[in-house]
Amino acid sequence: MSSQPARPLVLGVETSCDETSAAVLDGRNRILGHVILSQDVHEVFGGVVPELAARAHLQRIDAVVQEALHKAGIRLDEVDVFGVTAGPGLIGALLVGVCWTKAVAFALGKPLIAVHHMEAHLFGPVLEDEEAEPPFVALLVSGGHTLLLYAEAWGRYRLLGETRDDAAGEAFDKVAKLLGLAYPGGPEIERLARDGDPRRHRLPRPMLRGNQRPEDGDYYDFSFSGLKTAVAELVRALETRGALDAERAHVAAAFQQAAVDVLASKTLRAVEQTGCRRVLVGGGVSANGRLRDELADRLGPGARLFRASARLSMDNGAMVARTARFRYDLGHVAPPEASASADLAFPGLVRRTA
Ligand code: KG4
Ligand code: ZN
Repeated sequence: MSSQPARPLVLGVETSCDETSAAVLDGRNRILGHVILSQDVHEVFGGVVPELAARAHLQRIDAVVQEALHKAGIRLDEVDVFGVTAGPGLIGALLVGVCWTKAVAFALGKPLIAVHHMEAHLFGPVLEDEEAEPPFVALLVSGGHTLLLYAEAWGRYRLLGETRDDAAGEAFDKVAKLLGLAYPGGPEIERLARDGDPRRHRLPRPMLRGNQRPEDGDYYDFSFSGLKTAVAELVRALETRGALDAERAHVAAAFQQAAVDVLASKTLRAVEQTGCRRVLVGGGVSANGRLRDELADRLGPGARLFRASARLSMDNGAMVARTARFRYDLGHVAPPEASASADLAFPGLVRRTA
């Protein structure tokens, strides 16, 4: 190293789904080196194949970590803290990251931190904007989860709502498949929707009604499977009339608007109820420009909207390293028997009491 970086140096490893990623942060939470390798083996299947994801992580993890260390200008044995996503996610994929990181951390006698993937998405924006700190209302929208929560402080979260069926990103991916678009579907839908008129087709806003009250169980909850079914029926009807090609962009725009409308409306309900006008949106779907614009419009002036760049919204090692640093400072070191869990509990998250 030419000049000594601030300690501790934290390595974050992410293998929960189809991105193999590693990052090194210095003691001031600056990213020294970061590599994200997206797997393209799933493209032809139109979705992630868990077995292929695990194999691809195993083949690439060494090279990905080496490259992140190289960019950071440090050696593996200079890492002070090892963080790894331990769940939730695809179990075979998670195990690759956990076993690799655990083996290296214990061989070097360094602490291992087990990171929760969705808590890591909360830490994405603060890597680029140091004001993205709690308190905030957080909308976490990824391929596997849709959560609305109130973060009082780092590590102290109150769950307000979640999806009862499909996740928001999953809905984008499934609708993309119905429209014959590539995987992952979110960016494809967003691109196509730019040429479409969202008002040309009416689609439902599941679980969103004007007469819901904060005490109602579904006031903050989401449901996307009915919306996907409505799109499937619309696509079938258009196909029968030979009109699908001409309508594809309009269907994409109508779907995107329906999904965004529900996500933004429920987030605004949380803002009203908590009185907190600071909102963070995280997870892969937070890269969606329409979602960001809708939230910004509805929040209006004087409110704050935090969101990471596209690179730090998708699955990445930097957010894992940042979360590991937070948990390390609290002394949350994983025991030697630590493992991966497909449905790991969100640390510090309490359910809403009506
Ligand atoms: O957080 P993430 O990278 O992985 C998981 O933890 O699942 O999120 C991936 C999801 C995919 O469903 C993908 O289609 C969606 O994020 N996504 C988007 C956009 N970019 C990625 N959805 C809507 N609009 C986008 N621009
Ligand atoms: Zn994710």
